[in-house]
Amino acid sequence: TQAQNTVTFRPDAPTQVINRNIYGHFAEHLGNCIYGGFYVGDTSHIPNTNGVRKDVIAALRKMKIPNLRWPGGCFADTYHWKDGIGAKDKRPAIVNTWWGNVTEDNSFGTHDFLNMCEELGAEPYLSGNVGSGTAQELADWVQYTNFAGKSPMSDLRQQNGRKEPWKVRYWGVGNEAWGCGGNMRPEYYADLYRKFATFMQSDWKNAPLFRIASGASDGDYNWTEVLMKNIPANLLDGVALHHYSTVDWNHKGDAVDFTEKQYFATMKSALLMDTLISKHTAIMDKYDPKKKIALLVDEWGGWYNVEGGTNPGFLFQQNTMRDAMIAGATLNIFNNHSDRVRMANLAQAINVLQSVILTKGDQMVLTPTYYVMEMYNVHQDATLIPVDIHSNDYTFENEKLPAVSASASKDKNGITHISLVNIDAHKTQEVTLDTRSQAYKAISGKLLASAKLQNYNSFTKPDNIKPVDFKGATLKNNTVSVKLPPYSVVVLELK
Ligand code: AHR
Repeated sequence: TQAQNTVTFRPDAPTQVINRNIYGHFAEHLGNCIYGGFYVGDTSHIPNTNGVRKDVIAALRKMKIPNLRWPGGCFADTYHWKDGIGAKDKRPAIVNTWWGNVTEDNSFGTHDFLNMCEELGAEPYLSGNVGSGTAQELADWVQYTNFAGKSPMSDLRQQNGRKEPWKVRYWGVGNEAWGCGGNMRPEYYADLYRKFATFMQSDWKNAPLFRIASGASDGDYNWTEVLMKNIPANLLDGVALHHYSTVDWNHKGDAVDFTEKQYFATMKSALLMDTLISKHTAIMDKYDPKKKIALLVDEWGGWYNVEGGTNPGFLFQQNTMRDAMIAGATLNIFNNHSDRVRMANLAQAINVLQSVILTKGDQMVLTPTYYVMEMYNVHQDATLIPVDIHSNDYTFENEKLPAVSASASKDKNGITHISLVNIDAHKTQEVTLDTRSQAYKAISGKLLASAKLQNYNSFTKPDNIKPVDFKGATLKNNTVSVKLPPYSVVVLELK
């Protein structure tokens, strides 16, 4: 153990509600995320509701998934939504040119997705096609999903079996417009955004739209600046940001068999999220000081080499305690920036990149990342308690990172929760938590830890890593002393 780390509540600091959508997810037509992951078809022997796996629905509901982004990603800017409605045997088969050139039979389409979101209790977030689609096509999709009265698209929806509109609120206007969404310059995309957003009309009283501009990659601050400067505020509700945690894009390394050097590099990349959000926020603050426009980190997570023997276009990777560290630390960053960050989407929900669920035939595994999401769901819609953090360093070779990260909130029942992460690969970190004037009577907690950073839940050992009751915290008046084991996540409850 080292000298003590401190986490101090700031009861007088400005605060806000942590939007539950920060705990959102992302499902693309990529590899086995949709097909085999969520959807097996209604003739499958795997128990399903309208073709969607029952085990997956139950697990995601338990985790409290608040929203789901679909159908991409890069796929979104090649997707023509009318291919995925009506009788399944009449739907055209297309080629998924981004992800493995596999044939996409369009058997999972708009109705399948939006009905599935209802089953999950999650808000849908649709990514519109700007790259290869038209403004008319996107306007039609809005009318199809959201209009209650008589119109060409709502009539078509009813013919296809759905009477009431779904009233989809969240709409992405393209994805990664700087790359797979069309390799555009920000000035050109800003103009296209203005045009597409103009035609995305709705019954604003009953089905308001939240329109989201395709955002920057990592530290491309000019992208955010140009969008904020050129898109009128009445057309813009949110700006996106994508940041993946990698060792190095050219040498991503194995998802399981990694060295401490690679672990350190991944965590450095993950913690960069704090700087990225601060800097993009500072630009947004210039144009939108009242923070009406949200920053949505609608793609984030760890990205490694695909698992040996799997299709390179399918982005399948295992999920270890390293991923739990990325998730815990990143969610603390989002909570602490929840005045501007009001949605985030981990990439991707099932069988792709940093997943919460892996499937193989009728088997399902919950990953360490799933358990972090589940432990942290106490922060959803709770009020942030701003904190000051003083952390020891986690040192590797000549570099340092803060070992401890934290965030805290008070829920609607007055219960306080604090999530703490120790990313140090070797040392237990002792944390002194000063709750200031708040005195508590009872403490309990959950711990996610494992004997090795490289450990994971496999199909043969699905319960290898699971949260357990945490016994390493003591409470005395308004001070809590916590012992965080190396590479662990703890969520404390104070009453
Ligand atoms: O999540 C995988 C891909 O990463 C998405 O399709 C794209 O938006 C990003 O580059």
